[in-house]
Amino acid sequence: MISIKNISKYYGPVKVLSDCSVEVAKGDVMVVCGPSGSGKSTLIKCVNGLEPFQQGSIEVNQISVGDRNTNLSKLRRSVGMVFQGFELFPHMSVVDNLCLAQRKVLKRSVSEARDRAMQLLKRVAMDAHAQKFPNQLSGGQQQRVAIARALAMDPTVMLFDEPTSALDPEMVGEVLDVMVSLAKDGMTMMVVTHEMGFAKQVANWVVFMDAGQVVEKSSTEQFFRQPSSARARDFVASISRH
Ligand SMILES: Nc1ncnc2c1ncn2[C@@H]1O[C@H](COP(=O)(O)OP(=O)(O)OP(=O)(O)O)[C@@H](O)[C@H]1O
Ligand SMILES: [Mg+2]
Repeated sequence: MISIKNISKYYGPVKVLSDCSVEVAKGDVMVVCGPSGSGKSTLIKCVNGLEPFQQGSIEVNQISVGDRNTNLSKLRRSVGMVFQGFELFPHMSVVDNLCLAQRKVLKRSVSEARDRAMQLLKRVAMDAHAQKFPNQLSGGQQQRVAIARALAMDPTVMLFDEPTSALDPEMVGEVLDVMVSLAKDGMTMMVVTHEMGFAKQVANWVVFMDAGQVVEKSSTEQFFRQPSSARARDFVASISRH
């Protein structure tokens, strides 16, 4: 479903991704981890064309992301993305946040968009808050709304970039619960996170990045039992000490 082949990316003269290759099949849950600055966010942004890359190729559902003839806004419709900050529209109610792109991009009718919005808000246990504005919600609630908003476009793949790292600890669980339930329903997911409990519970694959390279891609079981690289081993040890 996502095929990243030998991509390299530069910011000016600085090479930040170096010959990275990763394949994500339908229904896979892939966790991407690694030290700060290793290129995780950059890699995931390349997947939906938010960042250009200079070498290699990326295909999502057989559509080439780097090809200049590709309609990127069309491609992004099938690729949901949830970031660390929730990025809801502050001047719109929760339900309107979910309806906007459904109306504008998918051309759904008002009632269709509202029905789908309420169905998804229920799914993330936010239906009781549909009329509130984002600043009236906790961080965990906002992030659950952001996930529902991405799902409203009926994506075939969901990308997450550290969706819980800006949250107070007591709110991390409620967001992870939503992600676990998505994974269990068979959503294809690529998730940058340091939540190793989440990785152990639902990921099939773990990718470890360091200094712009994919150092390791292992089954989750293999990664935690015996990572093949010393750098991944040290990383797992350092984050599980806390
Ligand atoms: N817009 C930018 N311009 C120049 N350099 C950038 C830009 N964005 C990121 N970089 C650099 O690219 C490298 C990879 O950054 P990236 O944000 O992908 O790392 P990361 O693995 O997501 O780190 P973190 O865990 O801190 O989020 C870093 O060296 C960073 O300084
Ligand atoms: Mg990052």
